[in-house]
Amino acid sequence: MELENRVAIVTGAAAGIGRAIVDRLARAGARLALVDRDAEGLARLAAALEGRRVDVLPLVADVAREEEMATAIREARTRFGQLDMVVNNAGVGVEKPLLDHDLDDFRRIFAVNLFGLFVALREAARIMIADGTRGAIVNVASVAGLRGSVGRAAYGPSKAAVINLTQVAAVELAPRGIRVNAVAPGPIATAMVQVMHRPETRAAWLRQVPQGRYGEPDDVAAAVVYLLGDGARFVTGHVLVVDGGFAAAGMLYDIAATAAAGSPADGRKGERGS
Ligand SMILES: NC(=O)c1ccc[n+]([C@@H]2O[C@H](COP(=O)([O-])OP(=O)(O)OC[C@H]3O[C@@H](n4cnc5c(N)ncnc54)[C@H](O)[C@@H]3O)[C@@H](O)[C@H]2O)c1
Repeated sequence: MELENRVAIVTGAAAGIGRAIVDRLARAGARLALVDRDAEGLARLAAALEGRRVDVLPLVADVAREEEMATAIREARTRFGQLDMVVNNAGVGVEKPLLDHDLDDFRRIFAVNLFGLFVALREAARIMIADGTRGAIVNVASVAGLRGSVGRAAYGPSKAAVINLTQVAAVELAPRGIRVNAVAPGPIATAMVQVMHRPETRAAWLRQVPQGRYGEPDDVAAAVVYLLGDGARFVTGHVLVVDGGFAAAGMLYDIAATAAAGSPADGRKGERGS
């Protein structure tokens, strides 16, 4: 198994994308410290993993509280005797007009998405350097951090900051043998989007994602596990979009279906278009 006996800590592990990452890491043979503020969800997940004989340490903590997050990282190191991988996945968002945002939206969202992530990254890197571990860290950003999307005045900048922090950390920690990468998911079918996405949001995503669908949590988990593994040993400071083609897209329509329905088939007519 690719990650046999390596130790990973995953934040926001109890649901959605975090849970899918945990599942893939468990199948790859990793030992797992799981952080979530949802004590019940975490206990259920830990029990299910123990049933599969996965070595697991559930840690109830709010990543936005500096001491709780730092303590969780140190507890994971103490319990397993090493720390090889960190997945900073916990995140929160809101979708509403910029004019309706207030500073508390920014404070709440940045506290989890950026400040909590920074504390975990810094504490883990300190431990990895002290232990001489060639570690790997993956931060869960978002395409909202790459593009200006409607309704994301606080969430988008928090994820843009995650992307830049990933790059800064990657260059500073590369000489110490630690890799830092990010994934930037597009719309993924989780509880978060059930709350955050209104019907208009859903329709816009389905129009603007070339694959015409929401992704599954496991689509993101597969990318995270790739970035954590040895196959990505020369990859650091990278942002891997997992978005069904959204970030690559410009003008979109189904040209094959349109041509089949009888539109002019002379491709040269299109050469003058822009
Ligand atoms: N779902 C999407 O479409 C999407 C798209 C792009 C990026 N993301 C990012 O992926 C990550 C996971 O999102 P998701 O859709 O799985 O969300 P989710 O709401 O389904 O699950 C998030 C998990 O994180 C936990 N959590 C939230 N705040 C926490 C805190 N302060 N401390 C500890 N645990 C906390 C929750 O209890 C929950 O278990 C987030 O960073 C999110 O911004 C999601």
